[in-house]
Amino acid sequence: MKTDGTALPGTVIPGRAGELLAELGDRAEVCSLYDADGSSIYHELSQQDHHEVRELIALVRRFPGPVLDLAAGSGRLTMPLLALGREVSALELSASMLDLLRERLDRAPAALRERSTLVRGDMTDFALEREFACVVLATTSISLLDEAGRKGLYASVRTHLALGGRFLLTTVDLNASQNAELELEFSTAEGNDYRMFEYWKPGMEARTVTIFPARYGAGPVRVGLTSIRVLPADRLEAELSTSGFRVTARHALPSVGARHHSTLLEVAAEG
Ligand SMILES: C[S@@+](CC[C@H](N)C(=O)[O-])C[C@H]1O[C@@H](n2cnc3c(N)ncnc32)[C@H](O)[C@@H]1O
Repeated sequence: MKTDGTALPGTVIPGRAGELLAELGDRAEVCSLYDADGSSIYHELSQQDHHEVRELIALVRRFPGPVLDLAAGSGRLTMPLLALGREVSALELSASMLDLLRERLDRAPAALRERSTLVRGDMTDFALEREFACVVLATTSISLLDEAGRKGLYASVRTHLALGGRFLLTTVDLNASQNAELELEFSTAEGNDYRMFEYWKPGMEARTVTIFPARYGAGPVRVGLTSIRVLPADRLEAELSTSGFRVTARHALPSVGARHHSTLLEVAAEG
């Protein structure tokens, strides 16, 4: 079994997902959802995930000017931001995710492609030498960062936000539910079926998400894995206020099940 470290150090895969992995033994090829092996799984699933896109786009519309899409992945937000007619810089750590975004842009109308800039970079420490009307960090991706990483993110965002601009980020809080493990099944436009397990109990720092193909033969089986911290909006608001920001509004996002509560934080720089 191999991992590339996107999961929190020492992650042990719990629950039914852990049992399935044990049953697969050496046949399991565990990969990060964002590395060369896992990014295609993430991309396939993200293409049909429209969660929070409408709300983010509506907010961006209110702040004219260039947009920075942090942790842009394969462009779930980048593409609709470009379709708004904005100049968009997409910053992403994973080379394979950026390749997927580049391929998407190659197939897009030239008018969109020409307004895009792709940057391989780390959202915890970047210097693009310019300012943006909006800095967007979607899909609760802040939860991939530890405390030091979040501090670096806030400092970097602060130096890139134009006067009167907004930092727009989403986070998910979880309710205790009867079962620690949730299982969902997905069918993608490519005709593949997946089983996704999410394991979390109150008090756990992170939820573990494991994705298996719904059916497999006798050979190797690719399993996508990621660990996502649980960062309530209150906690982020407190952190942001000690990093030179002020939350100007909290927007509740449509719920994706009884356990998850997503919030979009609209944030301005102080002074
Ligand atoms: C949940 S995905 C979100 C991708 C995209 N925004 C979307 O909505 O589909 C998280 C992304 O963050 C990227 N990522 C993780 N750590 C990062 C870092 N330190 N700097 C930049 N990107 C990072 C991952 O490679 C992955 O593409």
